[in-house]
Amino acid sequence: MAQAGTTSDLRHFDHVLSADQFDRRSVDAVLDLAGALVDVRDQRLTSRIAATLFYEPSTRTRLSFESAMLRRGGSVLSTADAGAASSAVKGETLEDTIRIVSAYADTIVLRHPEVGAARRAAAVATVPIINAGDGAGEHPTQALLDLFCMRRDHGHIDGLNIVVCGDLRNGRTVHSLVRLLANYPAVHLTLVAPEAVQLDADITRVAERAGVRVERTDTLDMALPRADVVYQTRVQKERFDSADAYEAARRIRIDLETMRRVSANATVMHPLPRVDEISPDVDADPRAAYFRQAAGGVAVRMALLEMVLR
Ligand code: NCD
Repeated sequence: MAQAGTTSDLRHFDHVLSADQFDRRSVDAVLDLAGALVDVRDQRLTSRIAATLFYEPSTRTRLSFESAMLRRGGSVLSTADAGAASSAVKGETLEDTIRIVSAYADTIVLRHPEVGAARRAAAVATVPIINAGDGAGEHPTQALLDLFCMRRDHGHIDGLNIVVCGDLRNGRTVHSLVRLLANYPAVHLTLVAPEAVQLDADITRVAERAGVRVERTDTLDMALPRADVVYQTRVQKERFDSADAYEAARRIRIDLETMRRVSANATVMHPLPRVDEISPDVDADPRAAYFRQAAGGVAVRMALLEMVLR
């Protein structure tokens, strides 16, 4: 059985709410520890309990957090459908639920449809809150696992030419990823989306100030041949009120024809779930990184749980 690596560089956080909390040193520490934890099974978190409180659908995020906890000897309390199956149905506020669950678990992994929900939870929690997605806000643990995959596949993140496409306005994984990339100034970021779903300037500002080169376009044409990473995202249909914007957002697809224009060493990533924005016949291409990207989520979440539970 593999053993965990050292955690001496790992900063302690009370809560994991936003990618803004992570400077270069703490990102490196999480990724290094995650690298050491791949395939680890040990008892380091025995007697610790994580509650996963999910008010929105999830497959990967919830199960990988639970797997991370179980693989280290910890336990989980799981509410997969908290919006329908918790006292929220009776009208209980998020704050009251968090106060109660704080007494039952040592950390709470929270997914909620409202932007800012993780911060509201952290204001009343007596245990660390981990933001597993707050509406169209952020998804910092996904962005860390995205960097984990990039670093493993390319050997580095500095200097990568990263093309992010799809629904950038509503995709919370992109919001956190761009914030984390502010730690890698030599990165060249191309944001490919129709105007209706382009990324807000507020989100790119920090990265731009840090020296990341940011370009916006609405077609993949120019961006593809020079890309090291193509990061595709799902159109977040649950967050649209305009049918036109929804249809515009669906235009950017990756298929075998697109792959012909992507360089041999590039990788194609996606936070998943994929609907039809990447054609399934791309899956067999070794450049398709999305399934190994998701698999790395367990190790990254082990590192984060260790960070908040230490
Ligand atoms: C993402 C999410 O929930 O924001 N999924 C995930 O956690 N891997 C992306 C999405 O739903 O499109």
